This record gives sequence, structure tokens and C-alpha cells, in this order.
Amino acid sequence: MIKKIALTAAVALAFASSSAMAAGGGDETVLPHDSHGIHDVAFSFEGPFGAYDQMQLQRGLQVYTEVCAACHGLRYVPLRTLADEGGPQLPEDQVRAYAAQFDIYDAEKDEDRPRIPTDHFPANTAAGAPDLSLMAKARAGFHGPYGTGLSQLFNGMGGPEYITAILTGYTGKEKEEAGSIFYQNTAFPGGWIAMAPPLAGEDVEYADGHSNSLHHEAEDVSAFLMWAAEPKMMDRKKTGLIAVIFLTLLTVLLYATNKRIWKPVKKAAKEA
Ligand code: HEC
Repeated sequence: MIKKIALTAAVALAFASSSAMAAGGGDETVLPHDSHGIHDVAFSFEGPFGAYDQMQLQRGLQVYTEVCAACHGLRYVPLRTLADEGGPQLPEDQVRAYAAQFDIYDAEKDEDRPRIPTDHFPANTAAGAPDLSLMAKARAGFHGPYGTGLSQLFNGMGGPEYITAILTGYTGKEKEEAGSIFYQNTAFPGGWIAMAPPLAGEDVEYADGHSNSLHHEAEDVSAFLMWAAEPKMMDRKKTGLIAVIFLTLLTVLLYATNKRIWKPVKKAAKEA
């Protein structure tokens, strides 16, 4: 009986998800968050053993600072985390120098002073651009049929892929609506975004000589924004792995214990 119920449930589930996938194919107006134009990128931090690539995060920080920060902020990210292990891991003196570039209003002294590492990255809403602190996580589950996150589950595609796709998804077409200019973008839900193409390739000069093509810059800054949104991802993965190993061992032990406890009862039942 239980077998039958389980089988029915499995078939129903498989059917529901396959028809949902089939429905995800066509209509963009009904499914604005579908995975159109979003491609998988093999980021170093994917998979159970993945880790951030320190050099990539440093390059991403450079792209963010020199390009994106003109309009966007990272108000929830403390500057000191730039020195953290597993992150961009800048030397302490470089973090101090980086922080000091940006002024902050000091309410006690009633004047502006340079930031120190315990301050956060500047916020910036001047251009009507959203804060990017949590963007890589906010957009993580948006792909797949009906925004179910299936593409993330099966293909490991999430926020960083989405951001890369936005940055590389401009078609070059523009339109004006109610006095604002919108740019056609294959990855943006609805197809038209108010952000002018921020990257064209060769926007920054990387110190490590890495290629600064449009795609590389987009991937680097996407990886950096993933780190900004989830700086402790590696710790979380490690804890998860230990938990899985522990639970597997526990399952084996409990199974063996169960067998042993019921052995005499089963034997008695057989003999009766
Ligand atoms: C000239 C100002 C400007 C610059 C420079 C800029 N952006 Fe934007 N960005 C915007 C605006 C405005 C929006 C809001 C667009 C909208 O909602 O239509 C936006 C939206 C976004 C979004 C959110 C898309 C969504 O799903 O809502 C992301 C991600 C983003 N920008 C990333 C970046 C990155 C990464 C850079 C640097 C490479 C960058 N932006 C540079 C103005 C800018």
C-alpha cells in the first residue's frame, strides 16, 4: 500500500514538473522571470567543495569600485571584511587605504571624515539604482519555470549568473518612455532596463594582467557581488558536509541497532 502511494506521488511529481518545464518555453510576458538569456557560468565557488577565487574577488572589487559604485551602493557590507580569509583577503593596510577614499558624515563631530575599516561601503541611491549588497542572493531563485528555482537546483545557476547575464545581455536597442531611456536587455524581466550598459570591455586595467573582456569583467564583478551577499559561504558548506557525514553514520548505526533489537522478536514470530 505504502509503495503504491509513494509510486503515485512520484509519478504525479514528475508529470507536474515536466509540464511546468514545457510551459516555460514560450511566453515571455507571462513568465518574466524565466531563464531566457541566462547561461550557466562555472564559478569557482559552486559545488560542495567550491571556494571563492581570491584574485577574481579582487578584480571584481576593482570593477565595482571603478564602474558600478558611480550609481550603486553596498551599504550592508563592512569594509573590514575585505581582509577576511576566504574573501578578497586584502592586506590590512590596503583595506585602510581603500576605506579612506570614501568620506562619511560623523554625527559626533558634526563633520565629514574618511572612512575606517569598521565603517561600511558607501550607500548610493543618487541614480535610482538599487543597493547591491544582497542582490546576488535576492535574484538567486528567479530562474526556471514560474520562478521555482529549478535551474538553480539542477544547473547550479543563480544570482551571479543572473548578474553576468544582465551585464552582457544588452542588445543595443533603446527606447524613451515618459522621459526616461530604457535599454533592451535579454536577461532583465520585461526586457527593458533603466540601467545604461555599464560595461563594454576594457573598462578597467587589471593589475594581475587578466583578460578584461566584457565577459571576464562581468563574471568577476558577479563573483564579487556573490561574496558580498554571502561572505561565509565556505563555512556554511563545510558545516553542511560535516552534518551530512554525521547523519549518514547515524543512519547506518540506527539501522543496525533496529535490526538487532527486533531480531529475537522476528525469530520468535517465525518459530510460532
Ligand atoms: C549609470 C548608473 C549605473 C551604473 C554605472 C551601474 N548601474 Fe546597475 N543599475 C542602475 C539602475 C538605474 C538600475 C535600476 C534598473 C531598473 O530597475 O530598470 C540598476 C540595476 C542593476 C541591477 C538590478 C537588476 C534587477 O534585477 O533589478 C544589477 C544587478 C546591477 N544594476 C548591477 C550593476 C553592476 C554590476 C554594475 C557595474 C558593472 C552597475 N550595475 C553599474 C544604474 C547603474
